[in-house]
Amino acid sequence: MNEDLIKAAKIAFASQYTFYLKAHFFHWNVEGIHFQELHALFETIYTEVYGTVDEFAEKIRSLGGYAPGSNSRFNMLSAIEDETEVVPGEQMVQELLQDANNMNAILKKVYDIAEANGEHGFSNFLAERMDAFKKHAWMLRSTTK
Ligand SMILES: [Fe+2]
Repeated sequence: MNEDLIKAAKIAFASQYTFYLKAHFFHWNVEGIHFQELHALFETIYTEVYGTVDEFAEKIRSLGGYAPGSNSRFNMLSAIEDETEVVPGEQMVQELLQDANNMNAILKKVYDIAEANGEHGFSNFLAERMDAFKKHAWMLRSTTK
């Protein structure tokens, strides 16, 4: 059991969960002339991210760690800040874009530790997550142009 890897994996997992919740929160509360497209864009993103939450948690279990699963633990661990206010749609896109880029950096840290420890199955999973967040960042960035 590699403590450093598990610790970093938990941070990335909590960060991804916070990202997921924020995208869903924005989906519910976005308003304005671009409601329809942003409502749909946020749904595409939160659906993809949420679809990997269970697998991510079980990867942590496979490494020998326990998967966090409470709001207080997520708040403690997450490197992504949550949003409590309903902000304008453009700001939602900007925030989520920045978060998607941050997610890539957070996942890369875990990826490097996993690779250094020969956990190639886990690093493959992390590489796919990085790819997915890169795609989310592209869609969000394109919306801001
Ligand atoms: Fe919905």
